[in-house]
Amino acid sequence: MIRTNQSNSTVARGTENNNTIFCRDVVDGLRADMKHLQSKYFYDAMGDRLFQRIMNSPEYYLFNCELEIFSTRTADLASLLLQPGGSFDLIELGPGDCTKSGYLLQHLVKANADFTYVPIDISTSIIQYLETQLPQRIPGIKISSLEGEYSEMLAKAATISRNRKVILFLGSNLGNMTPEQALAFSRNIRSHLQKGDLALIGLDLKKDPNTVLAAYNDKEGITRQFNLNLLKRINRELKANFDISKFEHYPTYDPATGSCKSYLVSQEEQSVCFIAGNNLEVINFKKGEPIYMELSQKYTTDEIGRMAQQAGFSTAGFFYDSKGWFVDACWKAI
Ligand SMILES: C[S@@+](CC[C@H](N)C(=O)[O-])C[C@H]1O[C@@H](n2cnc3c(N)ncnc32)[C@H](O)[C@@H]1O
Repeated sequence: MIRTNQSNSTVARGTENNNTIFCRDVVDGLRADMKHLQSKYFYDAMGDRLFQRIMNSPEYYLFNCELEIFSTRTADLASLLLQPGGSFDLIELGPGDCTKSGYLLQHLVKANADFTYVPIDISTSIIQYLETQLPQRIPGIKISSLEGEYSEMLAKAATISRNRKVILFLGSNLGNMTPEQALAFSRNIRSHLQKGDLALIGLDLKKDPNTVLAAYNDKEGITRQFNLNLLKRINRELKANFDISKFEHYPTYDPATGSCKSYLVSQEEQSVCFIAGNNLEVINFKKGEPIYMELSQKYTTDEIGRMAQQAGFSTAGFFYDSKGWFVDACWKAI
C-alpha cells in the first residue's frame, strides 16, 4: 500500500492478501523441524503497544542508548546527511512511532532541508499513526508512507523519485536477521542506491552478557507478553486454540557469537489446531519443545565495518552513546 499525505493516492500491492501470507508463514514455521515464527508478525496493534512499553522498561537499554545519540548528536547527524546537497528522500525502514528519528526530522524541517520522509512499516497501526500524528508533531514535513515488507517497499521507494536517497534503519532491526541475512539485506539496500547515497544503520554492540540478556527478560515480564501476544494473534486471526498459559518465554544469549535468541517453550505435550484455508492444521508439541521467536544479533564495530564493505559501502562515521553500548553507523554507497 502506498499512501501519501499530499495526494491521498492509494496503490494496491500484491494479489495475495495479508491474511493468506500470514497463514502460510505460520503453517510453514510451525511445521518445520525447528518450529519458528517470524518476528515481523509481533507488530499487531497490541504488539505495537507492548513494544512501546518494552522501550520504556529499565532493562531495555537499546532504546535509551539510541535515543541519546539522536537527541544529543542531532546536528552532527543532520550535517552528515545534508553534506551531499540537493533534495533527497529520507527512507526509514521500520520506524515505529519515530521517537528517535523524530529528532532528526524536526531538525531537518527547521533547517528547511528539501526532503520527503518515506516511512516503510508492516504495521497498519504504525502507518496510520505516522500519517495522522507526524504532520502535527512536525508541521511542514512531507510524508509519503509505504505499508508493507521492507524489501518489497524499498524497491517501490527507490522508484518514487530521482532524488538522492538516505536510508534509516534504526533500533537494531538489522540485528533481527542472521549475519548472513543482514549482509544480503545490506546488499539489497545498496542495489537501490546510487554512488554517494547514505544509510544510517543502528546496531547493538557486544557487551556484558548479563546486560544483554536482561534486556530480553525484563522483570515486569513485558517481553514475555510481547512474545506470547503473537500466539494470541494466531488465535484471533487464524482461529487457533493456543493455550497461552502452556507456553513460557525463554531468552538466551551466546556472548561468543553475539546471538540473543528468544523462544516460547511448550510446558507440556499438547496439540494446537487452526484453520489454514480450507484445511484444519494440527500441530503437536512435545513437553519442553521450543518455538524459535526472534534473533537479536549483537556486533563489534569491526564486524559492522566489514559488513558495510562487503555490501558496497564505505563507513562515513560511527555515532556511539556515552556508554559505548550502541552505535549508529553511517554508510556511504561506493
Ligand atoms: C522494534 S520496532 C523499532 C522501531 C524503531 N525503528 C526504533 O528503533 O525504535 C520494529 C518496527 O519495524 C516494523 N517491522 C518489523 N519487521 C518488518 C518488516 N519485515 N517489514 C516492514 N516493517 C517491519 C515493525 O512494525 C515496527 O514498527
